[in-house]
Amino acid sequence: MVEFALPKNSRPVAGKTWPKPEGAANLREYRIYRWDPEEGGNPRIDTYFVDTDDCGPMVLDAILWIKNKIDPTLTFRRSCREGICGSCAMNIDGLNTLSCTKGMDEIAGVIKLYPLPHMAVVKDLVPDLTDFYAQHAAIEPWLQTKTPEPEQEWLQAPQDRHKLDGLYECILCACCSTACPSYWWNSDRFLGPAALLQAHRWIVDSRDEATEERMGYVNDAFRLYRCHTIFNCTKACPKSLSPAKAIAEIKNLAIARGADAGRKCSRKGCHSSAEQAF
Ligand code: SF4
Ligand code: SF4
Ligand code: FES
Repeated sequence: MVEFALPKNSRPVAGKTWPKPEGAANLREYRIYRWDPEEGGNPRIDTYFVDTDDCGPMVLDAILWIKNKIDPTLTFRRSCREGICGSCAMNIDGLNTLSCTKGMDEIAGVIKLYPLPHMAVVKDLVPDLTDFYAQHAAIEPWLQTKTPEPEQEWLQAPQDRHKLDGLYECILCACCSTACPSYWWNSDRFLGPAALLQAHRWIVDSRDEATEERMGYVNDAFRLYRCHTIFNCTKACPKSLSPAKAIAEIKNLAIARGADAGRKCSRKGCHSSAEQAF
């Protein structure tokens, strides 16, 4: 029997309200999810006030300001602060996105920060991405060839290189996968939109010679077909990529290659193909 109630100690409770900075004329209120595995217990929501005249314009600037000036225990990931490394992804005001490219002025009222949803929490705003990275590793994201190495380099025609546009730019921030309802419930078996977008990037690479093996791996009722084309992933992507489109293209390729021959939806009265079958 599926248990839908949250475990008792996972419900956030009211936390500490930190004092307003003295003499600040312009303040933004932040409510931030806090949980420390060493303390245990329920997560709490702490309230902070950020002096916007003393810090940069982005949400990441604000949490760095809080960490430096108010509460050094506040924990989050970040590196490039340029939307390139993908490490600062979190749920901001209800949407998964990058804190370094999200302007405070894009959000009205109180700014609420939570870790990426449906992931185990390591601490505060840091999710456990172990499985997410394992899924990326599983699609073997590197060039695989069978013909002998060329003397200088693997060549690629411009029109073939263009096929990688919209795919190679993925920064593995996990905003898409953690916005996907299918991934929430089946992340142990469904690869999720990020890994599938990466799989598509290698499947369509004209230089790669492991297409059969790659298609054989992803073409599975759970790894691929748990995608129900809801498009949350595409809406969430801070790099404006479309994992949903990449997944649809893998499904089309599978059908074109005959890998799905004969597989039909089992729902009564439905005559659709395998795409809608799971
Ligand atoms: S389109 Fe597929 S991968 Fe994207 S959110 Fe929907 S179910 Fe998930
Ligand atoms: S597809 Fe977009 S949202 Fe998903 S991991 Fe890549 S950059 Fe992040
Ligand atoms: S800090 Fe690198 S993407 Fe935000």
